Amino acid sequence: MEAPALRWLDPPGGPAIALLDQTRLPAEEAIVTCTDVPGLVDAIRRLVVRGAPMLGVAGAFGVALAAYRGDDVAAAAASIESARPTAVNLGWGVRRAFAAYRQALQGQSQDPERVAARAVVAEARSIAAQDAAASASMARHGLALIPPGARVLTHCNTGALVSGGEGTAFAVILAAHRAGRLAKLWIDETRPLLQGSRLTAYEARRAGLPHAVLADSAAASLLAAGAVDIILTGADRIAADGSVANKVGTYSLAVLARHHRVPFVVVAPVSTIDLDTPDGAGIEVEQRPADEVTSVSGVPVAPAGTPAYNPAFDVTPPSLITAIVTERGIARPPAAGTLRVLTAGSGKVEGPLAAAHVERWWS
Ligand code: MRU
Repeated sequence: MEAPALRWLDPPGGPAIALLDQTRLPAEEAIVTCTDVPGLVDAIRRLVVRGAPMLGVAGAFGVALAAYRGDDVAAAAASIESARPTAVNLGWGVRRAFAAYRQALQGQSQDPERVAARAVVAEARSIAAQDAAASASMARHGLALIPPGARVLTHCNTGALVSGGEGTAFAVILAAHRAGRLAKLWIDETRPLLQGSRLTAYEARRAGLPHAVLADSAAASLLAAGAVDIILTGADRIAADGSVANKVGTYSLAVLARHHRVPFVVVAPVSTIDLDTPDGAGIEVEQRPADEVTSVSGVPVAPAGTPAYNPAFDVTPPSLITAIVTERGIARPPAAGTLRVLTAGSGKVEGPLAAAHVERWWS
């Protein structure tokens, strides 16, 4: 078992990738089995498997699938990488796996394809294991930012369903719960596809967290009521200047957090930081089909044919972000310098917090 969301099946039962179908949760724990790359690409596009770190793991296993099947592995890697454009981990995982494939092919005289396929599976497993270790480390670093009796607001889904470990923001929330510091987890439902109410509430319930879901539009009045001490989210891509692309609705929360002087903290592994993208304007935001907005669980909620604006993500500027927690430490505030040091492997990097945040953080 690589993670609850994904399992690699070796031959003779495979090669195949068994995915927990996240489109059917929480109603049903159904498995989708991908036996070829087009099947995996379809599963990634439909969000059967989703969330930045898990897309990296799935992409790597997709390269293994192509290698085992004797497909054109370079073409397969390209098609997996282009399945979704915003989460940087997808291309990162695919490229790592493809590099392992090419390296294993060199210097093999006997059955090189099979040996290379096994090497790719090992690389994909190592990506999942590294993600689990990163998750534990993010939880440790992030816990330092959680005050006693914390009422935490989160958006989208960032737990074990998207990770080789306990996730990103959700791993910090679990650590806070275990440390006795979590008074309440507020979960944005996360329209249009309800990753918050369907998936995060599912994970929160299983973990026994005190939690409640709210309509995204209720976050403003919740903050105005003083019922939130800190906001924690994940990220799909972090540009070199500290701009964060994450599930649509994250930016509105960051604006609200600034207005209400509540810390807004992003939790993501270093693999989500993309120093090749200088700023938020360079991040490609995935546009998704209109029917995700005009219907809910297949039931129309707008007249047939109504056009819709449906970006899957939005970009939050670094000026609104209090801190970015990674497995290597905390960039506080996030900026080109702090992120570069973190990705280069140094330890904790901190700068002064915005005064507005300091007042509220520990009061
Ligand atoms: O479209 P999704 O469901 O793949 O979007 C996922 C998110 O936006 C998550 O918040 C992000 O990937 C961080 S997951 C640790």
